[in-house]
Amino acid sequence: MITCEAKVVSNREVKPGCFLLRLICPQIAQSALPGQFALLRCSSGHVADPLLRRPLSFQDANEQTGEIAFLYQVRGKGTQQLSRFGVGQTVSTIGPLGEGFQLKLPVGPIAIIAGGVGIAPLAYLARVAYRQGYEIYTFLGARSKSSLLADPGLVTVSTGFFTATDDGTCGLKGNLVQLLQTEMQTLARCCSAYICGPEAAMQAAVSLCTDLGVPCQVSLESMMACGVGACLGCTCRTTRSTNYSRVCTQGPVFDGREVVFGDNTEP
Ligand SMILES: Cc1cc2nc3c(=O)[nH]c(=O)nc-3n(C[C@H](O)[C@H](O)[C@H](O)COP(=O)(O)OP(=O)(O)OC[C@H]3O[C@@H](n4cnc5c(N)ncnc54)[C@H](O)[C@@H]3O)c2cc1C
Ligand code: FES
Repeated sequence: MITCEAKVVSNREVKPGCFLLRLICPQIAQSALPGQFALLRCSSGHVADPLLRRPLSFQDANEQTGEIAFLYQVRGKGTQQLSRFGVGQTVSTIGPLGEGFQLKLPVGPIAIIAGGVGIAPLAYLARVAYRQGYEIYTFLGARSKSSLLADPGLVTVSTGFFTATDDGTCGLKGNLVQLLQTEMQTLARCCSAYICGPEAAMQAAVSLCTDLGVPCQVSLESMMACGVGACLGCTCRTTRSTNYSRVCTQGPVFDGREVVFGDNTEP
């Protein structure tokens, strides 16, 4: 785990309310894996406000250039302030943290399943998997074409690229789960699936993958405080022996079958 005063290379609004932040931080770029995350300080003054750093998954990490990238949706004060950071300013960044995705052998077709900004960690995973020879089928859901986060790099590495929008402006008219149901034959051919998005969509996607016998991993979100396993502020229900797991250290990526969705009450 490294703490770095990372200089902003760019912080661009790629879709309404959604920003791509690129930072220089060679030490973190060397070791950040797909599915891992960093804690970012979202204020620039002497007083940290908001006090807690905000967790964001790596959208990319490049050992050669020393850059790390985050794709984030503006939700509240922290991300709002982050969106105002300009080129040359520094963002105090701690990472890499948590357990990321595991690409399972044999090398074969895999499914990338993302709702909204959930594509952030999966875009990084898809690039790494592609370089290792995996065949990639991407399933992407969004409200409309204007919010669909389909970066050209992801399209390039995907053998199959399927989209659904609620209003039908791009791809299937419907949600991510309906898209998966429509493309079930393709999904069934995949050796594993990697899922990130709104909880209800993840739950339905896990259920479908399980029915099809496709092992899957999910990246969970939770409110975080310490980020290192000490405060228990981020626990989620799982089927592991303790019944609860820490999203920050035991996740954020979990085997889809061990997550008890819809029950994030504290232990
Ligand atoms: C491991 C991890 C990785 C993440 N990766 C990304 C990422 O790559 N891109 C991205 O856009 N976001 C990501 N998030 C979510 C991101 O951390 C939150 O959106 C952010 O902390 C919100 O901070 P804020 O100060 O802007 O909003 P706040 O003022 O803290 O909250 C604003 C509103 O958003 C809700 N909210 C806050 N955090 C979450 C959350 N985690 N899930 C659901 N609702 C929430 C609050 O309940 C509130 O209603 C990740 C979260 C985790 C735990
Ligand atoms: S955020 Fe403190 S234990 Fe996970």
